[in-house]
Parts: sequence; structure tokens; C-alpha cells
Amino acid sequence: MGALTDFATVGTAYAAHSRAARGRLRHDLVGRRLLSELPADPVRVLDAGCGDGEMTLRLAAAGHHVTAADPSADMLARTARRVTARPELDQRVRLLQAGIDELPTTGEPFDAVCCHGVLMYLADTPGSFARLAALVGAGGLLSVLTKNRSAIGFREALRGDYPAARRLIEHGADTSIGNLGLVTRGDTADELDRLAAEHDLTPLSWQGVRVFTDHHDDDWDPAPGTYAQVLETEWTASTRDPYRRLGRLVHTLARREPAGATP
Ligand SMILES: C[S@@+](CC[C@H](N)C(=O)[O-])C[C@H]1O[C@@H](n2cnc3c(N)ncnc32)[C@H](O)[C@@H]1O
Repeated sequence: MGALTDFATVGTAYAAHSRAARGRLRHDLVGRRLLSELPADPVRVLDAGCGDGEMTLRLAAAGHHVTAADPSADMLARTARRVTARPELDQRVRLLQAGIDELPTTGEPFDAVCCHGVLMYLADTPGSFARLAALVGAGGLLSVLTKNRSAIGFREALRGDYPAARRLIEHGADTSIGNLGLVTRGDTADELDRLAAEHDLTPLSWQGVRVFTDHHDDDWDPAPGTYAQVLETEWTASTRDPYRRLGRLVHTLARREPAGATP
């Protein structure tokens, strides 16, 4: 599987993006939805492509047991440092240096597998999706966040770069420049839901992420009251058409039938 980039060199830029309001908004929207679909009691979660560990920490803080996997030693070290700084979470997080291709498939499956912000950097969505789906146990959840192919060009237009927007829209582009200045690839929610069904998972309603705010730069720094209003507006739009279709990212979720359930 060809990675579109090598994350050893972009860790610092990603961490800065993740902490900025734009990055935080994405984590708040996705984390809220993901946690709402998980049981209140602790479950076993795989965070595939954990990066610097934002979702790992949120899941562990909610009581879940998280395997945080990433092929990049630099990214994994960032997660490790953040976990060490929260000793109360230490026992709930296991670190694993592995890409999606290298994840062990022989152990006990997970109650939830999340793979956020990774597929857009990889060439083969169906192959990656198959490997992730295989790790979801009975009754378990698969949560995938990636770039929304349907909205490519929307950010460029909102930023006033009309020639770029027009080029992308006219050509039905499936790639564009992402947050880190790298070319990233998009997928559609419909295609991801179709893949879920192919792997015996039932799609739940998907979320469009960053509809009204994606044109901001990472130096966007709204006052706390404004941020709260933005978050609630984005949250409301994230599951409603037509707004969600223009989100920068799509968050799809799908559940495997519990063991013994009648088909
Ligand atoms: C943009 S970061 C996203 C990190 C985190 N999931 C988040 O949402 O904040 C992308 C991560 O994907 C990882 N990655 C790259 N190729 C991968 C692969 N083949 N399998 C799993 N993760 C990969 C990178 O090392 C990087 O940490």
C-alpha cells in the first residue's frame, strides 16, 4: 500500500494543527459522535494511525482500553509522551508501532476500530478498509474519518482561490492539497458505506465535518463563547443534508451485528 507521505517529517506541523481551533473542532465533533456510539462501560478500541494520540487520549479518558497503533516512530513517541503526562490513563493505553497492513489479525477482535485522518494519505481505500473491518468483533463499531471527495474545491472557493476551485470542480478531482501542504485523496461517504456493507457491517448515519469553518487557517482563534457557538452549529449541520455533503471530512460509522443476532 503506497503512503502518499512520510510522517516522520510532519509531526510538529500536525500537532500544531491539531491544537489550533480548526483541528480541535474536528476532534470535538468526531469524538462526541464516536463516544456517543460506544457503550458507557469500558470496551477495547483500536486507534489505527493514532498520530499524536488525540483520540486515544479522549477514548482512554472516557474509560476505554485503547491500542494506539501508528507506523511512524515519531508519531507514536508523541502519543507516548502525552500518555505519560496523564498517569491516570497509562494503564488503559497500549502502544503498537504498525501500519494498517501490519496490524496483527490473529488476536481477539476489537469492540471498536477507529481510523481517523489516515485513508486520505493512502492509495488503496478498499484494501485498507478490508483490513480494518476484519478487526471489528461481533457487535463492534468501525469509525472512519477521511477527506470528503464530494466537497473537493469548496475550501479553495471559500478562500477566494477561484481558479483552483474551478479547476478541481470542473475535473471532478479526487485529490487536493491538504492541511499539511501535502496532496491528499478523497473518498465519498456513499462509497465508504458501500464498503462497510460489503464487509457485513451496517452503516450508521454519517457525519460531515467542518462545513462552515474549513476556510480558516490554523491561526483562527475564536473567543471561547464563539467557539462554543461554532461547535454547536457545526454539530447540528453535521448530520443534515445538504450541509454535511460540503464538509471537508466525512466521518462514517458502521456496526457489526452482535453474536447470535438473527439476520
Ligand atoms: C493526519 S495524521 C492523523 C492522526 C490521528 N488519527 C488524528 O486523527 O489526529 C495521519 C497518521 O497516519 C499515519 N499513517 C501513515 N501511513 C499509515 C498506514 N499505512 N497505516 C496506519 N497509519 C498510517 C501517520 O503516521 C500519521 O500519524
